[in-house]
Amino acid sequence: MGGGPKPFGVDAERVPDMLIRLSLLGLNFVGFHIFSGSQNLNATAIQEMHTKTFQLGIRLAEHAPSPVRLFNIGGGFGVPYFPGDQTLNIAAIGENLQHLMPEVKRQFPDVRIAIELGRYMVAEAGVYVCRVLERKVSRGQTFLVTDGGLHHHLAASGNFGQVIRKNYPVIIGNKVRGADREIVSVVGPLCTPLDLLADQMQMAKASVDDLVVILQSGAYGLTASPTAFLSHPIPIEVLV
Ligand SMILES: Cc1ncc(COP(=O)(O)O)c(C=O)c1O
Repeated sequence: MGGGPKPFGVDAERVPDMLIRLSLLGLNFVGFHIFSGSQNLNATAIQEMHTKTFQLGIRLAEHAPSPVRLFNIGGGFGVPYFPGDQTLNIAAIGENLQHLMPEVKRQFPDVRIAIELGRYMVAEAGVYVCRVLERKVSRGQTFLVTDGGLHHHLAASGNFGQVIRKNYPVIIGNKVRGADREIVSVVGPLCTPLDLLADQMQMAKASVDDLVVILQSGAYGLTASPTAFLSHPIPIEVLV
């Protein structure tokens, strides 16, 4: 989301002029908000991003009309979704921030630092559940057709931010320990091949009425999905 031509925010090289204009207009300068990207599982890359974010803020503050009181360094901490993904080393990120803080405080004595995490806070707290309506075999491949799909959970279908589609963690919720296993694809009821919730995954053998559960669904779930597409019912959201 950062670097190169972007539809978001203000290009860093235009900020000095913007700060002058802001003060000419008598606007109240509060501070900076720098957001670089999302779903990062590499602690070293995040450390580097934080270091560069502060360096950029310090450089830009030379043009600021008043002291920086708020510095929002963005979000982007990732969560493991796919096989091989490792949990983020949050301690390493904390240590780096601790190491950076004395200089940041020296440059901006009254600053409040904010981190605006999205998925790191909530992704693992949410599950998406849909029901198997039908088992279908087509040319040797088994599909579980469900009452859920991309209209409820676009991200799990692979159409929200994935370059190469990978399966979210998907289980049969009422047969978690089922010994009878099979390779299946889980699909929704929409008339598009994009409506795919799991592509040839191994899971417990499911029957009609069993529950397909998609883990790591608390972020970028329902609100990031085209719920009106093909007019199927919207799922119920329950806060436990
Ligand atoms: C400005 C801004 N802040 C915070 C976030 C949350 O990001 P994440 O869920 O990667 O922490 C986003 C996501 O795109 C964003 O655009």
